[in-house]
Amino acid sequence: MIFLLLVLPVAFSGCIQPEKSPDVKEMQVSGVWKPDGVISPGEYARSMVLEAPASNGYSGGVLELSWMNDAEYLYLALNGSTRGWISLGFEPSEWMKDSDIIIGSVRNGKAIVLDEYCTGNYGPHVNDTDLGGSYDILESGGIVNGHSTVIEVKRKMNTGDKFDKAFLPGQKVSLIWAMADNGFDIVKHNVAKGEGVMALSAEGQQVGSAFAALTSADISGLSFIWEEEKVSRDLYKAFYTRTSLGIFQNTSRSEQNHMDAVRVLLDRYGLQYPDSGKVGVFTDQTLQEIYSRLLVQGNGSDEKALKAAASFEEISIIDLQRQIASTDKGDIRAAYEGLLAGSEKHLRSYVRALMEQSETYKPQHLGQMEYDQIIKEP
Ligand code: HEM
Repeated sequence: MIFLLLVLPVAFSGCIQPEKSPDVKEMQVSGVWKPDGVISPGEYARSMVLEAPASNGYSGGVLELSWMNDAEYLYLALNGSTRGWISLGFEPSEWMKDSDIIIGSVRNGKAIVLDEYCTGNYGPHVNDTDLGGSYDILESGGIVNGHSTVIEVKRKMNTGDKFDKAFLPGQKVSLIWAMADNGFDIVKHNVAKGEGVMALSAEGQQVGSAFAALTSADISGLSFIWEEEKVSRDLYKAFYTRTSLGIFQNTSRSEQNHMDAVRVLLDRYGLQYPDSGKVGVFTDQTLQEIYSRLLVQGNGSDEKALKAAASFEEISIIDLQRQIASTDKGDIRAAYEGLLAGSEKHLRSYVRALMEQSETYKPQHLGQMEYDQIIKEP
């Protein structure tokens, strides 16, 4: 097994200290929850900033997600940098598929919040009620304020509807999020889209705040993970050229999003990213070696390319898990958890594509139990 972390450089020259505190915040809940579109101090227990830069038809934007839960109810506030629709999708199995979506927009001063479910990779997502489920938003509200929209929602942790994901206190919930500048859910996201993880509070958990300085491991980790995402983007682009399999076009686009997500952090901390400026060329020699090896291993057939890609996702998963375990920085951890959820989705997509070609895949780097757990749909 390849433990890439062992070869990470210990320090990264040009290190600059953080300019602001982490975006994942924990707060003492002291206020009363009101779905009035105003996120008051003490109203939520946790919040994080999800951010996507402008790229390829997306203007770029920020979604601040605040949440609070007990054993029975989940309370959410979405504060998005758009006057159009904003949304969260819980636990997609691949891409947008099987996600339990909450989508909201404020029209003529009134918040409209839909309880939807996405049945395909890129939609359609429809009202749970159209699928035979129920509308399970217990209370909601929101306002448009300048260039932002705030939507607040209350639902049960377990609604009992099979088109809503059931949550437990302490659970880490994988997310997708997206925003558009207009319309309702008819217009595709054109402001921003991304992935994340929302850690629910365990029962009786104390909230407090933790701030730690950026360590040299954080700095080298960010630069390494950015380049590791570039390896996957370049590898899948090459496989797409060879095989014309649509999955590689989708995953290479998605890896570009992942690189952009890490770039947001590198920019925030004033760090440089290790861009060789060339496709298939990397500054980290271990990554270069892995890229070159998998490019050869994936040659000759669709199956070989899919297996090489699945193997790289396993490596990414291991590296991201190690980075998550080694950082105290909330914003960095939140971004890595989003990337990890993305890598797990990609691994599932490759394994499914292999199964559709009557091929089997055996894990190359992950333990069998962990692999089985990831492949099992959430
Ligand atoms: C309005 C209807 C929607 C349409 C037609 C749509 C369509 C698509 C398409 C075609 C893609 C492929 C990449 C791209 O073209 O940018 C995509 C990706 C994505 N969509 Fe949607 N989408 C819709 C709504 C949503 C909603 C409501 C969410 C969030 C809950 C969402 C989250 C995402 C995410 C996170 C990705 C990237 C997936 C990945 O790379 O793993 N989409 N969507």
